[in-house]
Amino acid sequence: MATYRIDRSYDWNYENGPVFDGPYPAVPATPRKTFLGYEVASRLGIAAGLLLNSRWVETYARLGFDILTYKTVRSRHRACYPVPNWVYLDPGVPLDGSGAPLVASGSGAEPPGFPTSSVSFGMPSKEPAEWMADVARARSALGDGQVLVVSVVGTPEPGAGPAELVDDFARLAAMAREAGAQIVEANLSCPNVTSAEGQIFQDPALSGEIARAMRASAGTLPILLKAGYFADDAALGAYLRAVAGHVTGVTLVNGLSRRVVDAAGKPAFGPGREGSGVLGAGVFPFCLDVVRRAVALIEREKLDLAVVAVGGVAGPSEVGAYFSAGAAGVTMGSAPMFDPLLAVRLKETNPGW
Ligand SMILES: Cc1cc2nc3c(=O)[nH]c(=O)nc-3n(C[C@H](O)[C@H](O)[C@H](O)COP(=O)(O)O)c2cc1C
Repeated sequence: MATYRIDRSYDWNYENGPVFDGPYPAVPATPRKTFLGYEVASRLGIAAGLLLNSRWVETYARLGFDILTYKTVRSRHRACYPVPNWVYLDPGVPLDGSGAPLVASGSGAEPPGFPTSSVSFGMPSKEPAEWMADVARARSALGDGQVLVVSVVGTPEPGAGPAELVDDFARLAAMAREAGAQIVEANLSCPNVTSAEGQIFQDPALSGEIARAMRASAGTLPILLKAGYFADDAALGAYLRAVAGHVTGVTLVNGLSRRVVDAAGKPAFGPGREGSGVLGAGVFPFCLDVVRRAVALIEREKLDLAVVAVGGVAGPSEVGAYFSAGAAGVTMGSAPMFDPLLAVRLKETNPGW
């Protein structure tokens, strides 16, 4: 059974999740490696999303995931969009480059295997005092060889300009560090928010300013910037050049942005929430392609940037492909919800990861 109940609200899952009654497996011992300067038991982790709070972090740490990303927080409270927040997609409708709408599967029943799905949460956040205290709890729940990443996003205010947004990212980096983050990740791409913070990665100048400002406020913490899909190398190169030298690495790729409709052709998440983030099995070839192109560009231009891969990992073949492509770490967004024992199996067969 999935650890996140998609038929319940985000608040229900925040208060009651994860749905995991154990028993906890024995996690295989693995040789130490480094990830962005930290000693880790593996370079396998969970991307920003599933780990809603410290209880979720603790559960997945005990399940052997070693890079644990605390779901994106803001400098102020933000309510979640109402249910539905997560729908499975009809596997009969191809996810291709055409941008044609995708169709939510009618039943909502958990599909067999690893599905392609779509989420629309709007990046909710608790008040800083609440999440900062909870980040401290999450940090103390980690074992040896595990690291805590805290994902943050600036909140554009009506009437405010880019300078205020940059300041908000800088403030958040300092808050995450103070709370106990070992790495801070800025989410510059959220395919399902309807406001400007969802597409920052498409603006290299603004991405560069955010990178510089976060560098100045994060002390010595490694910084990651998470971006969405880049269709061409011109945009990808402009982004990488703008942030290199300021941040430690880039996280690629935060799913694809698509319109998702129900069987009747109406927006699956309701009016005003037409665009949503597509993730899971179907996005893997798109994300791998961007990771490969990013690593090639970074090597060619000798940029000082690590690449953390995300997107469509279901098991060892996708993890292997990302490491072969040159990823410094591989994180999973949705597979660990269906398959909480995934890290244990990956470590059994590939202790070197
Ligand atoms: C329930 C859920 C919530 C998510 N929320 C966030 C978020 O707050 N911030 C973020 O950067 N990405 C978020 N994501 C995106 C994931 O980090 C990841 O990029 C995406 O799921 C693709 O990985 P996958 O194909 O392995 O699922 C979320 C994903 C899921 C499944």
